[in-house]
Amino acid sequence: MGIVVYEGVMKTMGGKIDHRPTGLFINNEFVPSVDSKETIDCINPATEDVICSVVAGSVKDIDVAVAAARKAFKTTWGKNVTGFERARLINKLADLIERDAQELAELELSTTGSRDFDIGDSVACLRYYAGWADKILGQAIEVDNKTKFAFTRHDPIGVCGQIIPWNYPINMWSWKVAPALACGCTIVMKPSEITPLTALVSPLLFVDSRRGANFPPGVVNTVPSLGPVGGQALSEHRDVDKVAFTGSTVTGRKIMEAAAKSNLKKVSLELGGKSPQIIFESADLDQAANWVALGILYNTGQDCTAGSRLFVQESIYDKFLDICVSKFKQHKIGDGFDDSSAGGPVVSKMQYDKIFSYIDAGKQAGAKCVLGGEKRAGKGYYVDPTVFVDVTPDMKIVRDEIFGPVLSVAKFKTEEEAIELANDTTYGLGAGLHSTDASQCMRVSQALEAGTVWVNQYNLLNNNVPFGGKKQSGIGRELGSYALEEYTSVKAVHWNYGEKLDWPL
Ligand code: NAI
Ligand code: MG
Repeated sequence: MGIVVYEGVMKTMGGKIDHRPTGLFINNEFVPSVDSKETIDCINPATEDVICSVVAGSVKDIDVAVAAARKAFKTTWGKNVTGFERARLINKLADLIERDAQELAELELSTTGSRDFDIGDSVACLRYYAGWADKILGQAIEVDNKTKFAFTRHDPIGVCGQIIPWNYPINMWSWKVAPALACGCTIVMKPSEITPLTALVSPLLFVDSRRGANFPPGVVNTVPSLGPVGGQALSEHRDVDKVAFTGSTVTGRKIMEAAAKSNLKKVSLELGGKSPQIIFESADLDQAANWVALGILYNTGQDCTAGSRLFVQESIYDKFLDICVSKFKQHKIGDGFDDSSAGGPVVSKMQYDKIFSYIDAGKQAGAKCVLGGEKRAGKGYYVDPTVFVDVTPDMKIVRDEIFGPVLSVAKFKTEEEAIELANDTTYGLGAGLHSTDASQCMRVSQALEAGTVWVNQYNLLNNNVPFGGKKQSGIGRELGSYALEEYTSVKAVHWNYGEKLDWPL
């Protein structure tokens, strides 16, 4: 099978020029758009250079990709492939990503600007779901009649549209692709227009006869496009059975609306957050400060579970704030290709402007900026760790997701007050608490309204533990066995092996 590799000239990795596919990936081939001449520029946020341009898919390209995915679902994949075979292919894919980890890491770094991703996590996610592929079991159910029984099958749901963001491109790709393939679904992937490269290179791993895992054509299709074009087209497509999305709450709402207005496809949404971190007076303050710093500075705050609201018990407030600020000062932000940088720039000019507009709003509302909050001279979208104190619950910097390294800090007196403050948000993605009182940890973790609560740690995930949001942070769960429910549809089969039906009734 021939693969057309469009020439994408990329000036990354210290000026080395590489050739990469820049076409759409449909039916195991890289192809041009059927009707669009538009391209999407990929920009390195550390230098502001355009490193390459990729084909921007259109609504018609989405139609072509969905048709390819449907055909594969009906013929080579779906119910026509065993779990053992799916496991074998997914494991092969994981091996190939592991082999090419360095190359993929450089592609991630050159478009996200950040080193806070781990190709190893993506490999582990694929292997984890390869393990599930032959263990997707239904139930045998006794019914109220001796000559009948019922059983369930967990059928693959069908063709899945998967829309992913730019903050952890390959990791979000693996969270979506791995469970869908394990369950027998076929995929049309729409990567973020800001970071399409790893999703575009990874198809090579699927098919190249020399390098590939050799999945059948149409099982995974990748159509980079602008979100309102390709993402919208997938969400309202009548032949897409499910849309899985990670991104902003605003866009999540549009996706659900489009699903409702078209074919009521199943929707899972992993959306924004404004996650609290609570420090009680009994906490190990030095450790707690490390986790707080990780919580808001990891990936330069461009993290859906960024712990952006810090609540500190009054008795330790001054002391803890000092420790935190001194830790934040040790976090050097610079070019991710420079090994001495702990954090990189933010991903785009748009995100940079958005973050500074929040910083300005915080200052204007009377919050006191005790660290950062100033623009740097020179190139690159750099935002230094920024800390606001004396915040009040109504301020925009306390209510809205900023998606940058901006922490707002407030005091509390009692446990009840801390819970009240922490839950005072429309979001419910993550939450953290630090305390050495085990009963308090249990009480507070129960009371926090969030999909994930971290006790004496923050922001660490495991492939076998579910992840997702409450309130306006999302619907559905990724990771763990829970994600399998998102990609399967339960069929009940009622079986009669003896009962006679008398007629007329
Ligand atoms: P976004 O939510 O608009 O983009 C995420 C994905 O959705 C991208 O692939 C995009 O192309 C696609 N998309 C855009 N419009 C769409 C539509 N109408 N229908 C279907 N798909 C669509 O996020 P954006 O604009 O890149 O960032 C804005 C803010 O969103 C950020 O400042 C941040 O607060 C939040 N965000 C949250 C993320 C999270 O992990 N929770 C990830 C990315 C952004
Ligand atoms: Mg958007």
